[in-house]
Amino acid sequence: MADKKKKMGLIMKLVLFGGVGSVGLLAAGFVGLYFASGSALAQEQSIDVEAIEIPEGDSDAISRGKYLVEHVMGCGHSDCHRADMGGGAVIDEQPVGRVYAPNLTGGKGSATANYDSKDWVRVIRHGLKKDGKRALIMPSEDFWVYPDSDIGAAVAYIKSLPAVDRDNLGHSLGPIGMLIVATEPVFAWDKIDHKKERPKAEPGPTKEWGEVLAGSCRGCHGETLSGGKIPGGDPDWPESRNITPDEATGIGKWEFADFEKAFRHGERPDGTKLHEAMPYKMFEGMKPDDVEALWKYLKTVPAKPAGGR
Ligand code: HEC
Repeated sequence: MADKKKKMGLIMKLVLFGGVGSVGLLAAGFVGLYFASGSALAQEQSIDVEAIEIPEGDSDAISRGKYLVEHVMGCGHSDCHRADMGGGAVIDEQPVGRVYAPNLTGGKGSATANYDSKDWVRVIRHGLKKDGKRALIMPSEDFWVYPDSDIGAAVAYIKSLPAVDRDNLGHSLGPIGMLIVATEPVFAWDKIDHKKERPKAEPGPTKEWGEVLAGSCRGCHGETLSGGKIPGGDPDWPESRNITPDEATGIGKWEFADFEKAFRHGERPDGTKLHEAMPYKMFEGMKPDDVEALWKYLKTVPAKPAGGR
């Protein structure tokens, strides 16, 4: 009896200790994550950039900018800066927490009201905010490749929009958000080769221009375009797919019509639908020349098996 009691006591102690121990470990892990993600968000960098022309008031440039913002770069898409560019929560769900895309208009709560052209270039091409902190989630690695005239046009369009008063609620990360920020490549700044030369191409139905446009695919489909888990993406999203010419796992057997249907209408050759994480609704409005340019470029990239990103 006494023995059994002793044993029970021991077990109780172990359970208690174990319990307290794991709570302690969890708490220590949480504190570690809290500091690691906090210091990642606070890290400062700097880079010199050239000023570009922002053709404010030029109606041709503004309509080019509207097209780029709405159907190519997708600034307002996927719950990011929103159609009115007033910003909002990109994700607001525990345990990820809130990730906030700021207000880009001149209204109350604006993040960019005192941005000059260099500040715009720094954040769009390099993922660095005016305060030197790295922008979170902002896919500057996709935009880095666009020529000065297109960056200028996009900014001129954004600046032509009515001021929206919407306070910037900022990021407020939960435990999973902290884990993602501390361990995944969620800052474009870290992914961009800031010294690389931009491909020189003029808009048109060419593979050279297609390479520029494919900048808008790389944040999700990866540098080699072979797809895989999207870093910093909503945990509910599927992996992005292989859009290299690999015959087994990519789009190597597709015709142009197959590509266009999937890319613009979200339907694969076998009739299955794509998840809306693939922003096909935004690409539906892409100009035919641009879709052709993309297709021509995608056919020239090295075939890779799926998932290599
Ligand atoms: C915000 C993320 C995101 C961006 C940006 C994006 N894609 Fe996707 N794409 C996805 C995801 C996720 C899938 C897989 C969807 C699924 O499996 O239902 C996908 C699937 C596809 C498919 C279907 C492939 C297949 O085998 O079914 C094509 C084609 C495609 N994307 C082309 C492009 C091109 C071209 C671009 C750039 C102009 C691009 N995507 C930009 C996320 C993205």
